[in-house]
Amino acid sequence: MRDYKSLEKYLKDNEHTWLVTGAAGFIGSNLVERLLNLNQKVVGLDNFITGSQSNIDDALSCASKNHGKSISNKDLNDKFELIEGSIEDLDICRRAIKGVEYVLHQAALGSVPRSIQMPEKTNSININGMLNMLIAAYEENVKRFVYASSSSVYGDHPSLPKVEEVTGNPLSPYSVTKFVNELYSDVYRKIYKLESIGLRYFNIFGKRQDPNGAYAAVIPKWILGALSNSKIEIYGDGNTSRDFCYIENAIQANLQASFCAFNPQIKQVFNVAVNARTSLNELYTLIRDIIKEKMDIIIPDPEFLDFRVGDITHSQANIDKAKKFFDYQPEVNFRVSLENTIDWYIKNRT
Ligand SMILES: NC(=O)c1ccc[n+]([C@@H]2O[C@H](COP(=O)([O-])OP(=O)(O)OC[C@H]3O[C@@H](n4cnc5c(N)ncnc54)[C@H](O)[C@@H]3O)[C@@H](O)[C@H]2O)c1
Repeated sequence: MRDYKSLEKYLKDNEHTWLVTGAAGFIGSNLVERLLNLNQKVVGLDNFITGSQSNIDDALSCASKNHGKSISNKDLNDKFELIEGSIEDLDICRRAIKGVEYVLHQAALGSVPRSIQMPEKTNSININGMLNMLIAAYEENVKRFVYASSSSVYGDHPSLPKVEEVTGNPLSPYSVTKFVNELYSDVYRKIYKLESIGLRYFNIFGKRQDPNGAYAAVIPKWILGALSNSKIEIYGDGNTSRDFCYIENAIQANLQASFCAFNPQIKQVFNVAVNARTSLNELYTLIRDIIKEKMDIIIPDPEFLDFRVGDITHSQANIDKAKKFFDYQPEVNFRVSLENTIDWYIKNRT
């Protein structure tokens, strides 16, 4: 098994072709940036339903800066192609995947509450779109298909920390779609011999996560709220807890899962988290304290609202399986990761 540093070193010297779906989104654009930094060739596919051109522009700009003088914008453009289109269209998936060796499938309609408002669209993108991607990946005979699953698959099962093999009943349309993704992936592994690996992300956070709108994730939403002196809302009593996981860990998991030895005998889903638990009250205090160390501003007290339907109360992952199968070694210092994220929002707030 190769450790992450050695994998990065290998990639720097060996160009491969990747498809990142959802490239204009939070996780997708961070994957694009890292792959370009590692001298890889990348095709991005996105329909911009929640992603943005500014995420792509920022990813390309960061990649060119990190390269210093060794890579020009022209070279970068030769290494990156963006296809605008929907994974709901099989022909678009087939076009995007031509010549691709590794697929990092991130495109989906995220958010539990949005899926409760928009079950049909969530189903169409997350299930039909994923099936299209599996069909296209099989036809193209890709080397590895890594896709974004979610901790929401654990549903109503109360046990903590969550181990991959013990799941409950889904609590929202979104969690149904991610569960079905895993079922399809399993069938493609068993019948079509596609090397497909699911990553169950637990509350990933970091730069370029959308802080705006009704369906924004808690960390960017609260950082922006604190910076702009607007309302910070806590659903429930604030004791709800999450295993918050820095974007660097998600990047590492995607790259390691793409190159690890593939064991067709086991169910290929892995928790991507840090095996820690932070309550919403603790999160609020941390964000407030970090920002106050950096800026002299007034940050409002949180407003407590009712619990939201479909939300799970506590979430924490056991990450032994990812450690065992692809040497996943996450950054676990939550405060430092949060500080990096806050610094980015202070510089780039919109
Ligand atoms: N961020 C998290 O904490 C988290 C947790 C669990 C799972 N996930 C999963 O990780 C993946 C990435 O999430 P994210 O946080 O980056 O979300 P995001 O909304 O920032 O990114 C998703 C991207 O997919 C694109 N997209 C959506 N539908 C599409 C379609 N039909 N065709 C092409 N592109 C489409 C969007 O425009 C967007 O750019 C998703 O599959 C999500 O369900 C994320």
